Amino acid sequence: MKEIESIGDVELLVDTFYQKLVKDDLVSHFFAELNLKEHLPRVVQFWSFILLDEAGYSANMMEKHARLDLNEESFDRWLKLFHETVDQFFVGEKADLAKQRSTLIAWTMKTKFIK
Ligand code: HEM
Repeated sequence: MKEIESIGDVELLVDTFYQKLVKDDLVSHFFAELNLKEHLPRVVQFWSFILLDEAGYSANMMEKHARLDLNEESFDRWLKLFHETVDQFFVGEKADLAKQRSTLIAWTMKTKFIK
């Protein structure tokens, strides 16, 4: 168990998380049409910005979720898998921040996008 300290750590987190997402019975269909080779580096940039203060992510990621047909169960599963992956490899302040921030963003998305 280690702290999240480098972009390599974020890549491990994101890659392992997406391996779970694309196999999950409830949420895999959201990712079926995505080009992961293009998508994953953007997600790594996003988390590197939040966790490591690495510049580079500038898109409006919130809006990318507006057209998806998201529901409460999907958010709960997404979050469960994300937190589980953080805990699988990492401990410490940045690991806590990743879980805290994902919970907050998911909650914000829920209130914005679920009718
Ligand atoms: C039910 C929950 C979620 C599902 C099913 C989901 C699904 C997706 C999909 C399909 C995309 C690609 C959109 C596109 O390129 O058109 C995407 C992008 C993204 N999502 Fe999510 N998402 C969820 C929640 C979250 C949460 C809570 C966060 C952040 C904590 C997040 C972070 C991102 C980021 C950073 C991108 C990349 C945006 C970009 O291309 O710049 N997602 N998501």
